[in-house]
Amino acid sequence: MKERIEELIRAGYPAIALVTSEEDRAKAELASVAQALGYQLWTWSLSTGLTTIDGVKLCDEGKPGGAVQFLADLVPEDMGQATEEELEKCGNKLIVFLDYHMFLAQPNPMLVRALKDELKRAKELGRTLVFLGCKSAIPAEIEKDVAIVDFDLPDKGALKAVMEGLCSTNGVEVPENTDDILESMLGMTTTEAECALSLSLVTKKKLDPATIWHEKAQIVKKSGVLEFVETGITFDNVGGYDEARAYYEMRRRAFSDEAKAYGLPPPKGVLVVGVQGGGKSLMGHALSNLMSRPLIKCDFGNLRGGIQGESEQKMRTMIQTAEAVAPCILFMDEIEKGLAGYASDHMTTGGTGGRQLQMLLPWMEKANGVYIYATSNDITKLPPELMRKGRFDEIFFVDLPSCDERKDIWDIQIAKYNRDPHVYLTAKLAVQTEGFTGAEIEQAFIDALYSAFALDREPSMQDVEQAIKSVFPLSKLMGKEIQGLRDWAKGRTRSASTQSQAKASTGQGKRRIKA
Ligand SMILES: Nc1ncnc2c1ncn2[C@@H]1O[C@H](COP(=O)(O)OP(=O)(O)O)[C@@H](O)[C@H]1O
Ligand SMILES: [Mg+2]
Repeated sequence: MKERIEELIRAGYPAIALVTSEEDRAKAELASVAQALGYQLWTWSLSTGLTTIDGVKLCDEGKPGGAVQFLADLVPEDMGQATEEELEKCGNKLIVFLDYHMFLAQPNPMLVRALKDELKRAKELGRTLVFLGCKSAIPAEIEKDVAIVDFDLPDKGALKAVMEGLCSTNGVEVPENTDDILESMLGMTTTEAECALSLSLVTKKKLDPATIWHEKAQIVKKSGVLEFVETGITFDNVGGYDEARAYYEMRRRAFSDEAKAYGLPPPKGVLVVGVQGGGKSLMGHALSNLMSRPLIKCDFGNLRGGIQGESEQKMRTMIQTAEAVAPCILFMDEIEKGLAGYASDHMTTGGTGGRQLQMLLPWMEKANGVYIYATSNDITKLPPELMRKGRFDEIFFVDLPSCDERKDIWDIQIAKYNRDPHVYLTAKLAVQTEGFTGAEIEQAFIDALYSAFALDREPSMQDVEQAIKSVFPLSKLMGKEIQGLRDWAKGRTRSASTQSQAKASTGQGKRRIKA
């Protein structure tokens, strides 16, 4: 982090927006950067005005433009005639503005003009302005001159220091093996980690990874863009998908140190496309269990922000948090919904969606310990850039389940509602539900449960058969769309199952679709 800031300053960047809620940690880092560069560090805040590192007040508080004016006044009138000494006096400075995003979100024209002038001077004089705050809001007028830097979340080393500090202050012995504890803290800021550790000490009288994980889940949720999901669903709860399952089985150890030592490139992720209700989301949960990695769900809808720069900011938060809790599985469910506007808001037009996509796509190709599990019901709405080779390790296609698979799904669904599948002729039900998705089979069984409950008895085979008749499967309604999806999938994707069927709309029995 320090290196990155130093490089930007050396490269003559007149301004940096440093985004973090950890003001103290960032200030300490900036002080060390200033020292390394032989720069003076000045800080401006609304409450203290502009001060030197020793607290000497340079200009009054209260006016955000005051400090900019002060900087302007330092410069000799005729730069051409200025002595080395005079130039030195006004250059070689790192000027940190705290919470300045609050003034830049809807800036007044005077301030924007003053900043524009200042940035020009800063380039010539070798001074760099740092806008340090929990958000970045850079007006378009100065955007090109400001490098946005996300202050990394603390690594294990920094978190260890927090833990040791807390233990020593409170006379608690540091546990011998701290790996689990440190791992559970990853993804938190130092303040959050300290709170979670303290809570664990108060409630459990020890540093307990489970308590810290619980706190982390709350923090991640508060960010509004990601959420931990835990369901306990395994592949035993999923019917069919033998191919996909075998594929994941092979990759379950791919995040391990042995895999790294062996020289395996880290897996990036999969995109699963197919009919709605086919169990794509379900499989994401099962995958998380199979790989023993937490599943964090990205809410694409929430990634869009109202004010300028907010969407990019949210995307950055998402990426940063996902990386911090890695290794993990990032669940991007129904991505077409989140990316719908992006296809039209094309990259080249530079719209918000395009900019977000430009952040997301290269990141997806990086090895960062974040395995992406993305699903889509409608590939026509996805930006083509997303499908390019290299983004995903594999694109799976989920077709309507075959007869055997439907039998499995019937068995699973009946057991899910605490009934004995042997009571029903599930092989017969499978035949009767040709063209049904897993979700529709579940719906039919729920309908049967309702009817039977109304009559105060257990659902009979007849009740279930009756319920099947009342479900109108999507494949009948959307035969054309499903066939379109199949045609698209052919040659482009790998089938998630060796025997999923294309029968519903072709009427030609089992067909295997494979890349
Ligand atoms: N292959 C399957 N095996 C077992 N249950 C299934 C299957 N497919 C769908 N279901 C049931 O239907 C529900 C909805 O499926 P979901 O995973 O949301 O489908 P999709 O994400 O493909 O639209 C699941 O929670 C599960 O109860
Ligand atoms: Mg789904």
